[in-house]
Amino acid sequence: MVRHFLALRDYDEIELYDMLTLARELKEKQKQGIPHRVLDGKTVALIFEKASTRTRVSFEVGVFQLGGHGLFLSSGTSQMGRGEPIKDTARCMARYCDGVMIRTFGQEVVEEFAKYSDVPVINGLTDLFHPCQIMADLMTVIEQKKSYKGLTFAWVGDGNNMANTWIEAAAIFGFQLRLACPKGYEPDARVMAWAKGKAPGMITVTTDPKEAVLDADVLNTDVWASMGQEAEQKEREKSFAGYCLDDALLALAKPDCIVMHCLPAHRGEEISDSVIEGKNSVVWDEAENRLHVQKAIMATLMG
Ligand code: CP
Ligand code: NVA
Repeated sequence: MVRHFLALRDYDEIELYDMLTLARELKEKQKQGIPHRVLDGKTVALIFEKASTRTRVSFEVGVFQLGGHGLFLSSGTSQMGRGEPIKDTARCMARYCDGVMIRTFGQEVVEEFAKYSDVPVINGLTDLFHPCQIMADLMTVIEQKKSYKGLTFAWVGDGNNMANTWIEAAAIFGFQLRLACPKGYEPDARVMAWAKGKAPGMITVTTDPKEAVLDADVLNTDVWASMGQEAEQKEREKSFAGYCLDDALLALAKPDCIVMHCLPAHRGEEISDSVIEGKNSVVWDEAENRLHVQKAIMATLMG
């Protein structure tokens, strides 16, 4: 049976932890110049229906470092953008490639793709989830704090794809997660229901950012308007007033807390320049770890 990577909940804590351990080993090998060509001669298609900097570069460089080839495809320059059914694209790609990564809108698109694909499919971000990013974030937490066990994580902002994936992570890995989201911008109700069933009492949602960050170890935020929501930017700026991760909020968290942001960041909106550039910020390590985590996921699924 082919295993895909569409949502964190498709794996248990041990399986995900093994991928994080592999990511750390691959990082060490890359730093020391030790070859690790576990995808020698293999090709991974990288399909983008939305913009990307980090995901595209980390997958493309990652597959190259593993000895394989990354094939970039965009909806605008392929038949996908002209309405070819997902299931037809999926079956053809599986005849050429050893794996596929897709960034798209609906989660149902990656699910449909995976249903018809004989090779592993990786979710490179949908409107619902961003599992590759949260794996890089967890790797960064482990590097900085040794473990995620016993830590309190805080989310300030939109109940978006990142928030939903943090909720899945909290339920699987078993850490405390407090989310502060404005009314009307809460995380996905089905994801919350699933997580509450799996890990009762671990995840709380409030409208008060101060309550969420109080004595927290890990602070997280993300843009107010995600890709596809650009037309809502002005309206969202009003709804999210008071949800900027700034020095005043940072001062309420633990002094040695770490600040994370998946990037791209909008300074002065969801995060202040002083916080993202400040001593608690680990965003550049977090961005680098996308590379190592992508490699570990590809190596696990396609190696
Ligand atoms: N964090 C992230 O996924 O960045 P990109 O949108 O640049 O890929
Ligand atoms: N929530 C953001 C994440 C970007 C990496 C978006 O979907 O645009």
